Amino acid sequence: MPAESRAAGTTESDADRAVVELDNVEIVYDDHFLAVQGVSMSVDEGDIVALLGPNGAGKSTILKMISGIGRTERGEVSRGNVFYRGEDVTNFGANEMVDRGITHILEGRRVFEDLTVEENLRCGLYRGGRRFRFDEDDYDIAFDYFPQLKEIMDLKAGYASGGQQQMLVIARALIHRPELLLLDEPSLGLAPKLVQDIFETLVEINEQEDITMIVADQNAKRTLDIADYGYVMENGQIELHDPADQLVQREEIKEFYLGTSSEDSRYTDIRHYKIRKRWT
Ligand SMILES: Nc1ncnc2c1ncn2[C@@H]1O[C@H](COP(=O)(O)OP(=O)(O)OP(=O)(O)O)[C@@H](O)[C@H]1O
Ligand SMILES: [Mg+2]
Repeated sequence: MPAESRAAGTTESDADRAVVELDNVEIVYDDHFLAVQGVSMSVDEGDIVALLGPNGAGKSTILKMISGIGRTERGEVSRGNVFYRGEDVTNFGANEMVDRGITHILEGRRVFEDLTVEENLRCGLYRGGRRFRFDEDDYDIAFDYFPQLKEIMDLKAGYASGGQQQMLVIARALIHRPELLLLDEPSLGLAPKLVQDIFETLVEINEQEDITMIVADQNAKRTLDIADYGYVMENGQIELHDPADQLVQREEIKEFYLGTSSEDSRYTDIRHYKIRKRWT
């Protein structure tokens, strides 16, 4: 799809494939703190979409308003609209979005530390406060992609390694059988090899389970490697967007996001004023 129509996100043909569309969205916290403004984006069925940008750019805020979690933090879409499969879901609550097949993996590997790995996985079987299925086979999807978890089912999740916890939160989300998976900083604090393994697994899940994904991450290289399309945010706005393979060729991305010395260099390593200078 052409970049312009993605950003506009309003034509009939786009609506056929679009899972999520944001149309000129503004988001405020506490009725007055403007976190995001004028954001339009479109996520196509089956795609992995990268949402990139520095600290405070608004990545998590966007994900939270799509999943409905933002409202629990007194966030509100104060202008514009959010659509899910063509339905206007602006300011819907998390329960309503979970029922529509959206699962949000929050930043920071939020496991229940005092529960075992198995108990954490079982939490994925609840929807809207009710268990929606009862079947031991539900674990299969978790073990298919993360066989390591089978070995540590009785371990308290708080004692699992960072990598195992990241696997656990993804596996828990899969048990929920989402249509759209929102991942916030899945690479944060993990060793490069582990990030590579987990991101490769995300691609397998995307392809085999047909799950559309939005991945918000500061590791631009890794995320664009697995993404079909990318949006770059700064100061609450979209600064760049393009198919991922074209985005990595953009000079701003090469210089400021990918760095020159290390493929795992993070945006935060790069001096912020430079990018403003380039983009204003
Ligand atoms: N619950 C909240 N209440 C008030 N302001 C918030 C809240 N959450 C985020 N903000 C503010 O909104 C802006 C966007 O924050 P957000 O967390 O969406 O950025 P981010 O791109 O996810 O950053 P990071 O890379 O640090 O996760 C920031 O200025 C932040 O301080
Ligand atoms: Mg964030």
